Amino acid sequence: MELSALAIRVARTPGLGMLPQVTSQVLRLVDNPNASPRQIGALIERDAGLTSKLLKTANSAYYGAPSKIKTVSQAISVMGLSAVRSVVVGQAYQQMTSVRGASKRFDRLVFWQHSLATATAARMLAKLKGWRDPEEAFLVGLLHDAGRLVMDRFLANELDQAISLSLTRVISLSDAEREVLGYTHVEVGDLLAEQWNLPESVRIPLRRHHEDVSFEECPLGCIVHAANVLAHQAGFALGAPVLYELPFTVRQTLGIPETQYEGLKQATVQEVVKVQEALRI
Ligand SMILES: [Fe+2]
Ligand SMILES: [Fe+2]
Repeated sequence: MELSALAIRVARTPGLGMLPQVTSQVLRLVDNPNASPRQIGALIERDAGLTSKLLKTANSAYYGAPSKIKTVSQAISVMGLSAVRSVVVGQAYQQMTSVRGASKRFDRLVFWQHSLATATAARMLAKLKGWRDPEEAFLVGLLHDAGRLVMDRFLANELDQAISLSLTRVISLSDAEREVLGYTHVEVGDLLAEQWNLPESVRIPLRRHHEDVSFEECPLGCIVHAANVLAHQAGFALGAPVLYELPFTVRQTLGIPETQYEGLKQATVQEVVKVQEALRI
């Protein structure tokens, strides 16, 4: 299917079984400097399921709150707005990835773990770099390969072919997608980001996460590129276990000492286990 035809199908499928309305509203409100924590709390409280999940997460060992959190506003003050956004989106995304798609070879559990590993690695890298919003890095990391969920729904045969090609030729899944379709999950993901109404601050790094882009030019694109490589190296891989390396500009401009990467990989594995527990519904 041509990308333009896919764009029409995505646009004509309003629900797409994906980010629930409250989630995308929360996403937009957190990005809006004029929005108050109260407004965001009220929005979350409109969804009883989401509220109980958020409270469970806020009370999990991961956040280690000193006393029991009983309300959404308490959760926001203990965790911070940005972290609440990560939980809200994380849970919606986990639900999306637990629905079976049409592809025979695409493993959604592996996909979820790869997404979570990239998100946690991105958050760690952002903290190391002193980036202003590490939770935004988590978000971009989480959603970086979301285009594959659309492929699983509308291009299942092509995705199966790409996975086979990646495994038999030992090439990256992205390269295999391009060979089969002429485009990759990046372009498909951008269609989804448009449908979800994601802010440009998230869309731009999503579009550039496979580019060798400098930290100065596109901080989150650079961070998520590195986080994706780290996730692959830590064993959370999609497609063939290709040896992913950090490209020159990403490596240089992130400027993280070589000796720290081993520790980062181990920390990624530990974080994935913890976050998975915290997000368990
Ligand atoms: Fe990707
Ligand atoms: Fe990825």
